[in-house]
Amino acid sequence: MLRALKQRATFIKQFTTRFETTGSLFPSSRFLAKSITRYLSERKESPIRLLECGPGTGAFTNRIVRLLQPGDTYHLVELNESFVQTLKRRFEEEPHWQAVADTAQIFETPLQEFQPAEKYDFIISGLPHVNFPPVLLEQMTAAYFRMLKPGGMCSYFEYMHLLRIRKSISLRGARRRMHKVNSILQNFCSQYRIRRESVWMNVPPAWVQHLSSPGGD
Ligand SMILES: C[S@@+](CC[C@H](N)C(=O)[O-])C[C@H]1O[C@@H](n2cnc3c(N)ncnc32)[C@H](O)[C@@H]1O
Repeated sequence: MLRALKQRATFIKQFTTRFETTGSLFPSSRFLAKSITRYLSERKESPIRLLECGPGTGAFTNRIVRLLQPGDTYHLVELNESFVQTLKRRFEEEPHWQAVADTAQIFETPLQEFQPAEKYDFIISGLPHVNFPPVLLEQMTAAYFRMLKPGGMCSYFEYMHLLRIRKSISLRGARRRMHKVNSILQNFCSQYRIRRESVWMNVPPAWVQHLSSPGGD
């Protein structure tokens, strides 16, 4: 309970100081974590490679660690050093996290600069896509699929109707940016999406997008 409160406080502090990259006032709920890990929870027995982008204080990580098995590879890419400290502490202190600590590696770097040696079976992303400049967002969406194996799954979330709301209240320049962001994400989904889920039990409610890389069996 106290730990959860501390994580919330860390999140709120980072939101107020680094709004663009933190993207949200609260960590995601366990309902959102369950939805975004849907395909991971249906994994096969053989070892997998998993990338988590923007883990923050570990709302998704806390579920992911329960779905990992010995022999898996789990990479976490997080640019905010405060969040990295929280994640490291959780891997040291919490039993489910400790159990897979040997499997997990945290990279304190922006995703756009991350160069993995091998591709992944799963990518789970908590990045605040709607806050990114369109050029960066295009790089990110291309990077997801460059880093996925054929047939691999990429799952991310977005807050319901946020783009539409921000478009309607923004000034013209910002509106143009939101329009571009919207069309990049729509294009990404129309090519690769296999499922969209609505998660109401989250502040704010969110859609989870599941996309599959072409070429699997
Ligand atoms: C909306 S928060 C999500 C945190 C957590 N996954 C959750 O759902 O509660 C976005 C996270 O992405 C991280 N982030 C933002 N831009 C990033 C980038 N370019 N590379 C890596 N991490 C980034 C932020 O520091 C933050 O931890």
